Amino acid sequence: MTDLESLLNDRLAAAFAAVAGEAVDPVVRRSQHADFQADGALPLARRLGRAPREIAADALGRADLADLVATAEISGPGFINLKLRDDALAGLLAAMSRDERLGVPTTAAPETVVIDYSAPNVAKEMHAGHLRTTVIGDAAARTLDWLGHDVRRANHVGDWGTPFGMLIEHLLDLGETDAAHDLSIGDLNAFYQSARMKFDADPAFAERSRQRVVALQSGDPATLRLWRLLVDESEKHCLAVYTKLGVTLTAEHFCGESYYNDMLAPVVDALDGLGLLRESDGALCVFPQGFTGRDGEPMPIIVRKRDGGYGYGATDLAAIRHRTQDLKATRLLYVVGSPQHQHLEMVFQTAREAGWLSEPARAVHVGFGQVLGADGKKLASRAGDAVMLMDLLDEAVARAAAIVENNPDLDADTRAEVARMVGIGAIKYVDLSSDRIKDYSFNWDRMLSFSGDTGAYLQYTYARINSIFRRGGVVPDRAAAVLLDSPAERALAMELLGFAAVVADAGATMQFHRLAGYLQGLAGAYTAFYDSCPVLKADGPVRASRLLLCDLTARVVAQGLDLLGIEAPERM
Ligand code: ARG
Repeated sequence: MTDLESLLNDRLAAAFAAVAGEAVDPVVRRSQHADFQADGALPLARRLGRAPREIAADALGRADLADLVATAEISGPGFINLKLRDDALAGLLAAMSRDERLGVPTTAAPETVVIDYSAPNVAKEMHAGHLRTTVIGDAAARTLDWLGHDVRRANHVGDWGTPFGMLIEHLLDLGETDAAHDLSIGDLNAFYQSARMKFDADPAFAERSRQRVVALQSGDPATLRLWRLLVDESEKHCLAVYTKLGVTLTAEHFCGESYYNDMLAPVVDALDGLGLLRESDGALCVFPQGFTGRDGEPMPIIVRKRDGGYGYGATDLAAIRHRTQDLKATRLLYVVGSPQHQHLEMVFQTAREAGWLSEPARAVHVGFGQVLGADGKKLASRAGDAVMLMDLLDEAVARAAAIVENNPDLDADTRAEVARMVGIGAIKYVDLSSDRIKDYSFNWDRMLSFSGDTGAYLQYTYARINSIFRRGGVVPDRAAAVLLDSPAERALAMELLGFAAVVADAGATMQFHRLAGYLQGLAGAYTAFYDSCPVLKADGPVRASRLLLCDLTARVVAQGLDLLGIEAPERM
């Protein structure tokens, strides 16, 4: 274990427990005044009715810290300030350097985790609104994968329901061969919009469309074939976006609403058998506990509509049952925008009442705010429409290319690769580095800057370290002894040793902005180190140790970026 915080935590927890006669959280955190501080004496003192400083001293007296801690002091009302031994830091770093996993253990309790993300509606092009769920969901999938969980990516695409009536009729009107052109990637929206326009303007078309929905839901083979054509075309478009975006979603992860079609009737029967269904205006509804509208009336999820059709809610109930009972998942993450919070919480509550979501299984809504334009309003094209995701990605890469073009050291192919990584990385980084639940705004110049809180700065840190190795013609020795003689080396060591705790936190909370912030802090500590400690010009063991620090920094930056789904170029 190279995770300092948990090491200190374990040792102090044992000491505090000896004082209190029960388990106590020592409340260990990084400190301005020392390396770490432990604040556990304060709440414990209140509980035991003793002086906090006295408790701190008592705990410290019992703590087994000699191999880790150089000095321990009690300050203020009863904080314990700890300064670590340099040889302890060096030893931990040496172990981290030799470890493929950089000191990050795989989880002791692997789970099957379903991550429900991306999920665009079929036959509409993906727009900027799909960016966040796709990017955040992918970071979640990568992180939990790396921590050793069995991750099931579930792309709950909207591939079923009433819009397909009009889409299929429109397809028939155009003729399949002609439609093949209009349907092609990029023209999906036009296809959808002309169907929509006809539906609104032509009552006969609208009626045909409604009948077509019935034919679709009753499984008419000719209708299903046309439906499949539409879904396939749309999936092709999504996959093109995923490839460009560099996310780990592939064709095998499509598990849209249609997948649950055969499970809907059994789910309704099961809810009925449990006495959870009530009729309301001819529709069958569940009223999960704890949800009331403004008027104080209980709020429904409509599971079967008056016309016999099933809705979005019914599908979500079938999906949650499938995920816990068939897939045996114990952790369900729904990476969906904040406006759907209430819907999802109602689905979770219904599933709990039905016995489909019980310990150890739990469901979490991983919500997020909106993407705004530089003007602070919802991101829109000049014409005021939603911005197509593909266009947004192309623009990012083009803007990055304009910056990279100035670098005479790169050949044309490398420039194109770097522009792709920097442009796509900028988009992902701005998303993941902001507090998920808040809105954020696009500002191209800031996002693509090589300095400041950007993905490009982290990529640059990685490339710069690689350029040191190239210039020196060296391969760093990962088993070299670590020497931490200067304050900058020591500060960098402290940052590096924080990696494991940060990854564990991201895997538990899906708060990726803390991982992003950590990487920024690390890159900053590296810059300070590089400014004050010569590497290639140093000699012997000092040089080997500094090369190891450079190498470890590069590895942590690359691994951290990889968890965020961002690639790091060797040169840029
Ligand atoms: N297709 C939905 C939409 O575009 C998102 C689906 C989210 N996942 C879910 N299980 N409801 O709004």
